[in-house]
Amino acid sequence: MNFESLKPSVVSILSDNHTTDEKLKNLCQFLSNSVTYYNWVGFYFANHDNKTLHLGPYVGAETDHTIIPFGKGICGQVAESNQNFVVPDVAAQDNYIACSFTVKSEIVVPLFVNGKNIGQIDIDSHVIDPFTEADERFLEFVNQEVAKLF
Ligand code: SME
Repeated sequence: MNFESLKPSVVSILSDNHTTDEKLKNLCQFLSNSVTYYNWVGFYFANHDNKTLHLGPYVGAETDHTIIPFGKGICGQVAESNQNFVVPDVAAQDNYIACSFTVKSEIVVPLFVNGKNIGQIDIDSHVIDPFTEADERFLEFVNQEVAKLF
């Protein structure tokens, strides 16, 4: 996957004349369209008072998990660890919240604004073990661009 070639579109989607939610939804759609193994792409945002994550813009199958407590599932663990979490095979994870039996792997990358973890991008894949360090670096770039909206 040539992630470099996707970067200009990421920047342009985030700088067009839409609301933040529309830009993020367009970004999710672009990522899902551009990378074959990105099957569900969405953002969660943290409420630090309640210690919960709240589902933001996403594309892919509808999910029941619109609110996730910190510490629960892959997403909730990233809210506390502030670190990328790559799950090659979700079946091997104990602390995992299943959205659909079609999901085989997941990557979550935290979103920092002025050093604070305000949320995350979450990507589910129907393929086992598709994510490499290139995905991590690319999604860190995506989140650095998203951070400029906040
Ligand atoms: N699998 C996630 C829950 C969110 S869904 O993937 C949309 C988790 O374990 O945190």
